[in-house]
Amino acid sequence: MSKTIFITGTDTAVGKTTISVLLLKKLNRLGYKTFAMKPLASGCIMDVNNNFINDDALALQAAASIFKPYAIVNPIALTKPIAPHLAAKAMGKRLSGALLTETITAHLQPEADINLIEGVGGWSVPLNEKELFSEVIASLKIPVILVVAIKLGCLNHAILTYHNILQMKVPLLGWVANCIEPDTLASSENIATLKQWIHAPCLGIVPFRT
Ligand SMILES: Nc1ncnc2c1ncn2[C@@H]1O[C@H](COP(=O)(O)OP(=O)(O)O)[C@@H](O)[C@H]1O
Ligand SMILES: [Mg+2]
Repeated sequence: MSKTIFITGTDTAVGKTTISVLLLKKLNRLGYKTFAMKPLASGCIMDVNNNFINDDALALQAAASIFKPYAIVNPIALTKPIAPHLAAKAMGKRLSGALLTETITAHLQPEADINLIEGVGGWSVPLNEKELFSEVIASLKIPVILVVAIKLGCLNHAILTYHNILQMKVPLLGWVANCIEPDTLASSENIATLKQWIHAPCLGIVPFRT
């Protein structure tokens, strides 16, 4: 049976794409059929065929074992590298929970053992003035992996995010400590503290890669 995983993070630029790619490659090596999508991306550029493309979606498309056309990997491509509801507005579009729900369910691949979905930004991302992306994930009951960038301030970001995931009754598969900086002071102590506070498995500690 196909399983779906949502990759969220404590913030934007915490390593969601990096961890997604690592996870996909590992699952591929283990023999799973994988598909990955970035349903909603802001910060897209126009390619030679006049289509808007985004680096995250291209990385996911390349890392998954099931290759699908770009428009299936990233159905909602917004140009400006700003909050999605503002990027949508700049293009005369409006995002909604119903649109995201429909987009995700229509593009998941039943033949994949694992469908991985990368979120946009952090966990609480507005789609409009009254709906959040996290509410779509909660209503679809998609289990989540939380990527935590290990740096000063990560305890606050991670614990707040964890508590909100719990409050929304979203299954948390676990969290990943991503050492995104070369020399974070007390990084192992921060990771140990997060293990005490987050009652879900620490799925991995990813070292800083130069
Ligand atoms: N463990 C790591 N070591 C070094 N650089 C990293 C690591 N994880 C992520 N990065 C870098 O940090 C930046 C943000 O990562 P990315 O995966 O794009 O985050 P997100 O998807 O959350 O926006 C990228 O330049 C990426 O290469
Ligand atoms: Mg990303």
